[in-house]
Amino acid sequence: MKEKDSKKTGTFYGVGVGPGDPELITLKALRVLKAAPSIAVPKSREQRKSLALTVVEKAVGLEGKEVFELVLPMTRDKETLERARQEASKEIIERLSEGKDVAFITVGDPLFYSTFSYFVPLVTEGLAGVRVEVVPGVTSVSAAASSAGMPIAKADERVIIVPSIKNTKEIRVLLRGFHTVVLMKISNFMDEILDTIEELGLTERSVFVSRAGWPDQEVVKDIRKLKGRKVDYFSMIIVRPVAEE
Ligand SMILES: C[S@@+](CC[C@H](N)C(=O)[O-])C[C@H]1O[C@@H](n2cnc3c(N)ncnc32)[C@H](O)[C@@H]1O
Repeated sequence: MKEKDSKKTGTFYGVGVGPGDPELITLKALRVLKAAPSIAVPKSREQRKSLALTVVEKAVGLEGKEVFELVLPMTRDKETLERARQEASKEIIERLSEGKDVAFITVGDPLFYSTFSYFVPLVTEGLAGVRVEVVPGVTSVSAAASSAGMPIAKADERVIIVPSIKNTKEIRVLLRGFHTVVLMKISNFMDEILDTIEELGLTERSVFVSRAGWPDQEVVKDIRKLKGRKVDYFSMIIVRPVAEE
């Protein structure tokens, strides 16, 4: 066998580091991150520092590790995104081909609104036979519910999780159809969401949570106070429209 063929390919790990509190990282994530020589950090150009990397720095440390950033544009243009992901996947494949394990870190869980899901097909198509392993993480929804002391679901209740909603009619329909509505990625549509919740008389059944589990976490029960305010990207609103029994 030629030397090139005998080199073992590294494992591609998707590691959820939890919502931000380093104590909420799992033992499995700690083990994988301690062992992995290379850490892939997805990041937008505009983002100062990756939140996921801050967690890894606090919980594991970065000494002796290669940290490489995958710079992805903040755009909805599919072609631009696809091109950037293709380029970034080459960086991952390069290291895996050298036999290094790569840990792709993500806030919360890697299979829950994370770019990791886009990289799995790119890496497996680009590197035949590569092993992919996912390490789940505590999601921001669980963290926000805990911070707010609000149940997500009881008994046979129905829950819906909705990101980036921009249609007030749709918000109304959802608020009538579920026991819990979790609105994520709300920062660009806050006032419309707040107005709709108020019009339906659900302000008292709602809670806003920003940066759950972080030292600067904010939990706001009277969400009317937030009107006109620019809120952090790491924020969500949870509504429980139905009266408790
Ligand atoms: C791209 S999604 C990431 C979700 C993540 N993979 C997870 O498992 O929770 C980003 C959205 O998650 C929510 N989010 C993430 N971390 C949060 C936190 N610590 N507190 C409140 N919301 C958070 C916000 O709604 C934000 O717009």
